[in-house]
Amino acid sequence: MIRYFTAGESHGPQLTGIVEGIPAGLSIHEGYIEQHLVRRQQGYGRGGRMAFEKDHAFFSSGVRFSKTTGAPITLSMINRAYEKDKDNWPVVMAAEGERGDVEKITLPRPGHADLVGLQKYRFDDIRPVIERSSARETAMRVACCSVARKFLLDLGIEIGGHVIQIGSVGYESWEQIRSTADPVYEKGAENLYRESDLSEVRCLDPNLSEKMRDEIMVKRKEGTSLGGVYEIIVTGLPPGLGSYVQWDRKLDGQLAQAILSTQAMKGVEIGLGFESGRRHGHAVHDEITYNAGFRRRTNRAGGIEGGMTTGMPVIIRGVMKPIPTMLKPLQTADIESGIEQETRYERSDVCALPRAVVVAESVIAPVLANALLEKFGGDSMNEIRERYLESDES
Ligand SMILES: Cc1cc2nc3c(=O)[nH]c(=O)nc-3n(C[C@H](O)[C@H](O)[C@H](O)COP(=O)(O)O)c2cc1C
Repeated sequence: MIRYFTAGESHGPQLTGIVEGIPAGLSIHEGYIEQHLVRRQQGYGRGGRMAFEKDHAFFSSGVRFSKTTGAPITLSMINRAYEKDKDNWPVVMAAEGERGDVEKITLPRPGHADLVGLQKYRFDDIRPVIERSSARETAMRVACCSVARKFLLDLGIEIGGHVIQIGSVGYESWEQIRSTADPVYEKGAENLYRESDLSEVRCLDPNLSEKMRDEIMVKRKEGTSLGGVYEIIVTGLPPGLGSYVQWDRKLDGQLAQAILSTQAMKGVEIGLGFESGRRHGHAVHDEITYNAGFRRRTNRAGGIEGGMTTGMPVIIRGVMKPIPTMLKPLQTADIESGIEQETRYERSDVCALPRAVVVAESVIAPVLANALLEKFGGDSMNEIRERYLESDES
């Protein structure tokens, strides 16, 4: 079973990840991981530093001559912020010694983990909460999950995502999304991300992209922020991954957990999702046909029925709330004095949704890889390939 852990603070020296359970013999390069890390850094709606330095994760265990060994994989990533501000962060984030005159952060930001994190861990300074709850952590998540993503890719399973809504701008219907996106991922979902990456907001429709950009620009000027909805597609999955027999083996539930555990995600839909509650049954369920094998005319279930893959593309949506750090302040209260006042502005994105697409594509990969390993098993890629490709399922 594949598991991963991330460690590290936003302004600490580095982020670290350990990925356990990847079979031996998977071909993997740091460059493969870097391409998704760089995608995570790009997108319209970023604040300030548009010219960023590329994130790069390097292996220090579990990979030898560009092949996994089956041992735990350690990934490390230097935090540029720490490197660049050597007079400040090594002092503020020092692992040893006393606090000295390092300033305490005492104004909790609404919409962040600040206030509850402070109450929970009984800190007198919000700094440790900010540092670990920050979405900087998603960089290491993308790195760790990209290893599982490569595992899937080598078995012909592709993942790709696109933005379908930013603020009030989006597609009008499920059918409109399907007619735009389905032809793009027909030959594999990697085409979907390649195509949507051409848009700064990761939207396939050029007119909508333009409107989304305008919406972000308007909200930036107003000093506020925006969220939205993305859709992730997975192609090449065999039928029967997951199970209906026990709650924690249901694949839709596992996928939802992976998405919802990502910073700022507030909801998940599979297939038609919430729209299915507004339709009658005949406009929701996918009829079964038979022609030298079972087929579906539609895929409104989003490739999952009874907690198991149907063999159709998996369609998952996630909704992201607007970023909580905004130029126009929100009201808060100082944790020491209780005096109500306004939040202070720090550099922040206006809309991180295009970047969050890459995180969502990544976090579902270990879930799907585990479902595949559970069904077909194996300790090495050769063994898995034999079992999987020689089964009727692939
Ligand atoms: C890719 C990504 C980038 C983000 N960038 C920012 C940001 O620049 N500023 C900010 O205030 N929140 C940002 N967030 C959102 C916060 O991390 C999130 O709202 C906060 O951690 C609270 O998480 P919760 O809503 O899941 O409780 C970002 C989230 C993601 C996924």
